[in-house]
Amino acid sequence: MRENVLFEITKDNLETGLRGVPVGYCVTSFADPQKGLTYVGRPISEVCYWDPLQVIYLLYFGEAGSKAQIAKFQQDLNQRAQCKEETIRAIEALPRAGHPMDLYAAAFSIAGMEELHGDYREDCLNVIAKIPQITAAVINHHAGWGKTPASKPELGYMENFVHLLQMPDIDREKLTPVFKLFNVLHYDHCGGNLSAFVGKSVASGMAHMYASLASSLAALSGPKHGKANQDCLEFVQEVLDSVGETATASDVEGFIRERLKNNQLVYGFGHAVLRVEDPRASVCYEHAQKHFPDHPLIKIAHHLRTEGPKVLSENPKISNPFPNVDAITGSVLMAAGFSYPEYYTVLFGVSRLVGIAIQIVYERMEARGGKGVPIMRPLYLYKSRK
Ligand code: MLT
Repeated sequence: MRENVLFEITKDNLETGLRGVPVGYCVTSFADPQKGLTYVGRPISEVCYWDPLQVIYLLYFGEAGSKAQIAKFQQDLNQRAQCKEETIRAIEALPRAGHPMDLYAAAFSIAGMEELHGDYREDCLNVIAKIPQITAAVINHHAGWGKTPASKPELGYMENFVHLLQMPDIDREKLTPVFKLFNVLHYDHCGGNLSAFVGKSVASGMAHMYASLASSLAALSGPKHGKANQDCLEFVQEVLDSVGETATASDVEGFIRERLKNNQLVYGFGHAVLRVEDPRASVCYEHAQKHFPDHPLIKIAHHLRTEGPKVLSENPKISNPFPNVDAITGSVLMAAGFSYPEYYTVLFGVSRLVGIAIQIVYERMEARGGKGVPIMRPLYLYKSRK
């Protein structure tokens, strides 16, 4: 290939979802097909048990902060955490009929009307600080769990979120570590995942931060993107219902073969970029094995982890037969006591919005020597349908 040429586009690349086509730079994360996700060059396995704010600092500033720097950052975010009364009341007036992701996207449009500053950097920090309360208001309202209290950011980032959730019989001690891990694992996944790409594209027309993030949430709501985690949990549950709690690995293998024979989907395997087991999934399997080894869903998820790749790799057309992060996260959330799968994609959003907001700041304020990336305007070739 000629020097400076990253990728040669042929007609075979058209209508392939821009797979592998370089578009720009991502300063927050990268996913290597073989090694998986890194945040600012650090493998996800290194940072996954850091405190969420420490990881947010890393993504926002592009370097790990000292204790004092992180404390100052936390102080700044704490002052931004409380939403206006009007924002919360308007979220509580949304219809409850749709999927919670529909309310979540609407909540960000509302927040854009009530909370907008207008500067991408300020709005990025404001959004990160307000995500716990906006999200809790959406879930509490949609679930019918009542009013959302005042934010208490001094508790810690995800501790505050758990405080804000009004879920009945909530076991905060059990839930918080799992929410923290889930949160850190999902902050970012390079520049080209659908919700990040959509949010940055919308922002490229100079739409404000909240409108851009509302569009990201709409992108995340699709079953091939964020909603995959809900669908995967429902699949693991279906396997459990079919083979039973005491099933062996070979029972699960039989279940998978039967599904494939009937042309039914097997969920939780493969990835657009990765060609190995998703390292985020590996972290969750280990966490599950350590903390919830006897939970029926976890047992099934572990059997799927070994049997899925075995069966799927028999098909030469499957380029990645290994589990992705969604294969296990839902089961871990269930085991930790959060038994509300319809909110799993919302939890994904709590996390992913952080990375997208930071990527938007880069593209709007820093890229091309501060000029920013121009409005997205790819080329489509004309084709007659006759
Ligand atoms: C992920 O977290 O795996 C993604 O958002 C999917 C992707 O990278 O395309």
